[in-house]
Amino acid sequence: MPSLAAKLHIKNIQQVLFQALSEAKISPEKIDYIAYTEKPGLIICLQIGKTVAETLSLYLNKPLVPINHLEGHIYASLINQEKEWEFPALALIISGGHTQIYQLKNHFEFILLGETLDDAIGECLDKSAILLGYNYPGGPIIEKLALRGKNTYQLPLPKNDDSLDFSFSGLKSEISRLVNKEGKNINANDLTCSLQNVLAEILTKKLKKAWIITHAKNIIIGGGVIANKFLRDYLTKNIKKWDKEIKIFIPEIKYSTDNAAMIGISAYYKISIDLTD
Ligand code: KG4
Ligand code: ZN
Repeated sequence: MPSLAAKLHIKNIQQVLFQALSEAKISPEKIDYIAYTEKPGLIICLQIGKTVAETLSLYLNKPLVPINHLEGHIYASLINQEKEWEFPALALIISGGHTQIYQLKNHFEFILLGETLDDAIGECLDKSAILLGYNYPGGPIIEKLALRGKNTYQLPLPKNDDSLDFSFSGLKSEISRLVNKEGKNINANDLTCSLQNVLAEILTKKLKKAWIITHAKNIIIGGGVIANKFLRDYLTKNIKKWDKEIKIFIPEIKYSTDNAAMIGISAYYKISIDLTD
């Protein structure tokens, strides 16, 4: 609902800004750079953020740092971390709008290896939750229901198994078919548990394929869907089986879903690298 999202951005942005300054205990004069999300996203919301950032930049006479939202999800894994990435690395982004695998050759040198051909993984969770009668966002409720369920439904794996691309629309259609067929008798706990299991299997398979090709030393996983504890554990356990030496970077849960700190840390790295060039 883009118009509602825009209205809420206008309504809340001032409060967010004041609260952020107060929680960080800094005055605007102490800010060195103004980072903002440049793309991708809802144009109208991005525009509101950009306008506020530009106004602040002009008023405080501080440079602007435009940041890509997806890079933000990757850099979120470095928040509160002592370790740094080693290159080449792999990054898996799983969010409401994206499902992508990148090869990271260096800071901000990312090569897209694969992405979804239809729905994003988060969209698959959100639409499945709606089919089961729940509201957006579907991921957290699916995680909760699945805790009480068993992996009993045989959900289909996509057929495009040789590529690094993803496809989730078949899975969504199967959930829709099952909900229509079983109606009120559907076991939502078992269905959501089965869905999480098949999604975990798909992600693991594709990531392993990418790892075999790239020999990545580090694997980074970001995006709202990695707030899911089952997926965090499943992926970590499986990656360790391929090679114990692989270092895994996953943001803390609060930095997995969209947040401003991930844009801040991306800007920090962008500025540090530019300064040392
Ligand atoms: O990265 P994000 O906050 O926003 C986008 O950039 O899209 O990701 C939002 C997605 C939604 O699809 C939401 O259902 C999902 O992340 N999500 C979760 C969980 N928390 C949020 N999915 C599974 N388990 C969760 N705990
Ligand atoms: Zn996001």
